[in-house]
Amino acid sequence: MNISEIQEYINNNREELLNNLKDFLRIPSVSADSKHKKDVLKAAEKLSELLTELGANNVEIWEPEEEGHPTVFAEFFVSEELPTVLVYGHYDVQPPDPMELWDSPPFEPVVKDNKIYARGACDDKGQLFMHINAIKVLKNLYGKLPCNIKFVVEGEEEVGSKNLPVFIKKYKDKLKSDVILVSDTSMISLETPSISVSLRGITAFEIRLKGPDRDLHSGVYGGAVANPANVLANILAKLKDNNNRILIPGFYDDVRPIGPEEKENIAKIPFDIEEYKKSIGIKEVATEPGFSPLEATGLRPSLDVNGMVSGYTGEGGKTIIPSKAMAKISIRLVANQDPDDIINKTLNYIKEITPNSVEITIIGPEQGAPPFFTDTSKVEYKVAEEAIKTTLGKTPVKTYEGGSIPILSTMQKELETNVILLGFGLDSDAIHSPNEHFNLDNYYKGIETIIVYNLLFPKYFKNPSN
Ligand code: BES
Ligand code: MN
Ligand code: MN
Repeated sequence: MNISEIQEYINNNREELLNNLKDFLRIPSVSADSKHKKDVLKAAEKLSELLTELGANNVEIWEPEEEGHPTVFAEFFVSEELPTVLVYGHYDVQPPDPMELWDSPPFEPVVKDNKIYARGACDDKGQLFMHINAIKVLKNLYGKLPCNIKFVVEGEEEVGSKNLPVFIKKYKDKLKSDVILVSDTSMISLETPSISVSLRGITAFEIRLKGPDRDLHSGVYGGAVANPANVLANILAKLKDNNNRILIPGFYDDVRPIGPEEKENIAKIPFDIEEYKKSIGIKEVATEPGFSPLEATGLRPSLDVNGMVSGYTGEGGKTIIPSKAMAKISIRLVANQDPDDIINKTLNYIKEITPNSVEITIIGPEQGAPPFFTDTSKVEYKVAEEAIKTTLGKTPVKTYEGGSIPILSTMQKELETNVILLGFGLDSDAIHSPNEHFNLDNYYKGIETIIVYNLLFPKYFKNPSN
């Protein structure tokens, strides 16, 4: 392997390696919004077209039986003798709202200050295209791929991957591989490269409260009738105490304490709390007592209200008791919490503390997934370390990330294959926020690192003591 040859090729073809991504970013494949159902399908079709053009032997679009969005499968077969890399990614994106906070339209990608701006630029279209373009470069440089490569790219990651588990079970043979590579997480920086070795799990639901059957005059009825907005605030206030501990009975029962090796790894991560606070505009952090922000977000559970609505929020005042109130809540899980157990404990507690003066309906749970861990003792991980060392000059540190990719634990278990998180995003990329972007140096270094991974994997796979 000649690394400077690879670097030179990428450098000379920067434009071309960005153009296919730009076209893809123009498709508003927002999975959460039924208005965009056709656009999501269009993205799936565009993706299968691209993979076919690249020379895939087999490309399939798997349509779910239930309501939902398709999964794209592709296979680049080289030889039975060679190991197989399975790439997982998602072509759906988060809603772009609030639109007015974008400096340029979310589905008209622009390059500014060496960054590409668009919804999905990093999460996950940009990172997915690192893998697609790695194939392009490998084929142009060497005429063929160094290993077999498969793709499974879903359109429902941002809404909880409801239909993918069925496909994974149904197409186990097609999905058979020796490593699953995922670029859908962040690294610390190109100067301090890192690999995420765990992700938190998730469970999410919605509370709806109904009081009187219409909004009432708050003077005529106030004092006699329960106000759903007040009651909701009261319920939410009982979910966490003033020390940021979650108050649901039994919630921490299965939480595994942070181990010495994890503490050691976290200590190696450069972290400046003042910079952290400044970067998001807060005065104080709100961690559980005794835990740093890195520990709290990576290896401790959390509970957050994601949104709430009730009553009159327009200009001026309106003296009413609203008829309804609602809140959306998500809980992040760590080892060894079980999503079903936690949702049961949570909903039982919420029902218990809800007074009879209002009617409660729970929507969900949705998006349930257990926490995820990479097996770092295996050769698949060693190759990732080697690849990053080759392209970025340093052995990556291990990080524990707070976000979730719901399907990964299912894939790892069902396919009995180790999942490696080769992410090139930065925490500052504003994923899920207005002005999402992806640093182009990360993009091209990502392509380079994936190329090196694909080149090294067959060698190490044959001889793990390499
Ligand atoms: N790519 C993210 C997850 C992520 C981001 C992990 C950054 C680590 C670092 C993924 O697309 C995502 O946003 N997942 C959702 C899942 C949810 C909608 C079920 C999440 O974590 O909120
Ligand atoms: Mn993602
Ligand atoms: Mn996301």
